[in-house]
Amino acid sequence: MTRRPYIVGNWKMHGTRAMLSEARAIDRAAQRHMKVEVALAPPYTLIHPIHREAEQIAVGAQDCHHAEGGAFTGDISAAMIADAGAKFVILGHSERRTGHGEVDAMVRAKAESALAAGLRIIMCCGESAETRESGKAVAFVNEQLKASLPLPTAMPADVAERLTVAYEPIWAVGSGTPATPADIGEMHAAIRALLIDLFGVEQGAEVRILYGGSVKPENAGEIFAVPEVGGALIGGASLTADSFMGIALAASEPFEN
Ligand code: PGA
Repeated sequence: MTRRPYIVGNWKMHGTRAMLSEARAIDRAAQRHMKVEVALAPPYTLIHPIHREAEQIAVGAQDCHHAEGGAFTGDISAAMIADAGAKFVILGHSERRTGHGEVDAMVRAKAESALAAGLRIIMCCGESAETRESGKAVAFVNEQLKASLPLPTAMPADVAERLTVAYEPIWAVGSGTPATPADIGEMHAAIRALLIDLFGVEQGAEVRILYGGSVKPENAGEIFAVPEVGGALIGGASLTADSFMGIALAASEPFEN
């Protein structure tokens, strides 16, 4: 890992104000793990309260609408989440692609809108079990990413600062079984090659590539030891400070695991 490991919690649709104490505990623990960049993406309703209290962690959103504003009942724009204190947004998560019919072009439009609002983006990609079994996982993820990322001309000059990619095989998310280190290594190498192709050697080499899908404190060490793994996007295990920071600890000592 060339840059600081990046450990991001995705709380999904979990958390009321009762969870603020957990966010506080995560923030306090993050101050003791400065070698690791820790961030949290709670539901929209908790962005502002966590942002107000957090001293160390960045707060982000799990999605945003692609338009700046207008007649879109129930939607939230990138500028609105930025106004609430979000510094980044997760885009193209498989639960949005499958559950809300988000296609690549829509994800790209959201990404461009988020960048224009000054946010950093975590762009998710990942194949289904069927695609992996058919041997086409690398080709699929390559195409999905190419079609979902903002066009290189729409990327700001500081690509490496503003963009993170998260590889999350759909079958590994929430299943309890992460991808094998060999499969993660193969996919991350392919994503790195694509990023260099799109954004040039200097910028493309610096963009962090996270792994996501059933990361736990017990398996984090071997995942972080895989080349080109720059951190993790964590769902279930980010809901308590204990398990989430157990993963951050593994990221701060990757070679001792
Ligand atoms: P999980 O979710 O850690 O619960 O598998 C990861 C994600 O969906 O980002």
